[in-house]
Amino acid sequence: MLRGKIVLITGGAGGVGAETAKLLAEQGAVPILTGRNRAKLEQVAAAIPGNPACFEMDVTDNDAVRNVIEQVAERYGRIDVLLNNAGYGVFEWFADAPIERFETMMDTNYMGLVRCTKAVLPIMREQGGGQIVNVASMAGKLSTAKASGYAATKHAVLGFTNAIRAELAPFHIAVSAVNPGPIDTPFLKTADPEGAYAERVRGFMLSPETVAAAIVKVIRKRTPEVDLPLKAAIGIRLYCLFPRFADRVAGRFLNRK
Ligand code: NAI
Repeated sequence: MLRGKIVLITGGAGGVGAETAKLLAEQGAVPILTGRNRAKLEQVAAAIPGNPACFEMDVTDNDAVRNVIEQVAERYGRIDVLLNNAGYGVFEWFADAPIERFETMMDTNYMGLVRCTKAVLPIMREQGGGQIVNVASMAGKLSTAKASGYAATKHAVLGFTNAIRAELAPFHIAVSAVNPGPIDTPFLKTADPEGAYAERVRGFMLSPETVAAAIVKVIRKRTPEVDLPLKAAIGIRLYCLFPRFADRVAGRFLNRK
């Protein structure tokens, strides 16, 4: 079912995006890598079967997003899947975080995904269907200390995802969200340069390969939403049912940043 599918990936120069591209290529799909750094993209592409095409695309640049998505559609004739993966986080106390950080994080993690979705939509509508997969986070469901900026971007992603899922279903465009817990990628170096958070969550950190496998499964089955790992998925459900109780009992466990 994946064979020949054109999958445009944002933030494909490393981490989850690069691993997903590799897995997709191994399963017969055609990943298209996009990102800000051409040299890094080409390095990643060289290690992937079929040496996928790379396009420089910063998701905060509306013109670049529109141009690249149009170019890809023209060259390949269609875009079956848009994987909105680009994103970053900075974990810091609200009192210490400059206001610009909230704006720039939102511009990439949320507005970036809105820009890409907006650009791909006419293409998917014209071809009669498609799929949009948004990499959100556990932080989109559950906010913890030192994540006011990052968690807000991912809550925004999930709010957007749920609304367009309902709007786009009649056009045979499936909209999915993937909500991972902590993943062992360069993301953590930016989020928490001292490494204290990574140390505290090491026991249940996901590998990028595990998250890539979950994304590929979501693409194959057109699953609306997946939380991972399983323990976090159960925790999130309990938290949503009993938020104040969970704050009291699990607050210390959750606030590890
Ligand atoms: P990563 O840092 O390895 O990869 C993110 C990629 O996005 C990088 O290649 C980066 O250059 C790119 N990117 C950032 N800003 C961009 C922009 N303006 N335009 C284009 N590309 C841009 O991190 P990772 O872990 O692979 O992150 C992938 C997604 O997973 C992100 O959306 C992140 O928020 C999410 N996530 C990460 C978790 C983690 O603990 N690593 C946990 C849950 C979700």
